[in-house]
Amino acid sequence: MSRVIEAVSKAKEKGYAVPHFNFASFFELVAIAEAAAETNAAVFAASLPKVTETYSPEVLRTAVSKLSERTGAELFLHLDHTNQTGLCRQAVDAGYDSVMIDASRFPLAENISAMQEVAAYAHSRGCAVEGEIGKIKSRGDTGDFSGEDCIVQTEDAVKAAQEGEIDYLAVAIGTAHGFYKGTPRINFERLEEVAARISIPLVLHGGTGLPEEGVRRCIREGISKVNVGTIIRYTYLEELQKEIEKKGALTPPVDLIYPEVTDKIKTVVKKWINVCGAEGSSLC
Ligand code: 13P
Repeated sequence: MSRVIEAVSKAKEKGYAVPHFNFASFFELVAIAEAAAETNAAVFAASLPKVTETYSPEVLRTAVSKLSERTGAELFLHLDHTNQTGLCRQAVDAGYDSVMIDASRFPLAENISAMQEVAAYAHSRGCAVEGEIGKIKSRGDTGDFSGEDCIVQTEDAVKAAQEGEIDYLAVAIGTAHGFYKGTPRINFERLEEVAARISIPLVLHGGTGLPEEGVRRCIREGISKVNVGTIIRYTYLEELQKEIEKKGALTPPVDLIYPEVTDKIKTVVKKWINVCGAEGSSLC
């Protein structure tokens, strides 16, 4: 069993969740690594397709491995939300620990067949695979995120878990990516129903802006991995801007700007590690 599957399985067994943090810049990644090391938590460091393609899977693999070595953090490098099986293969070849094939916008049979294709390639090279059932929406999408078309259908999730060959499954239960416009309505009943029928770990997306108590309840009802992205990027950009305004653009950034910014991101990351109950979960 790979370490990443061991980590998520352990979380499921013990009733906590492995936190997943998206990064888009080096300083976000440094903050994630330091926060994980300081709390002794195993966490996912995840690159979305645009980030992966911009910097290359190989560069990101090296950066994450070296930061793990330097800080002592247990980081699992994960490719997040691509519907491109080719990009999954590239990430696997570069040594990613985990990839997500998100073909949820396609009909179920196509989605499952994409999962199978990626799983066959990834598993033979020691990489774990996440799939998605139901459509987890993003900021900019319109409509009611808690409506039936956006909520996982239990039978679809059961079929994907049985046939998709995946290691963990993201389920749409009313959460969405980005900042919420109103109060998110999490469909706990559907989560409970799916969790009762599926033995592989379940993943919650759209962490930013979710009430802490709601996330803790999701974990109690069967979520074993919690994804957080927007608040990391936003904290980085907002704090960077504030520091520049406060200290001036000519301030040496490595001494006086980045450490302040990194500390603010670390506070956010540590809060989420705490909400997930993941302190001390590192297998190192
Ligand atoms: P947020 O950006 O809403 O935190 O969601 C992150 C996510 O689910 C990445 O897969």
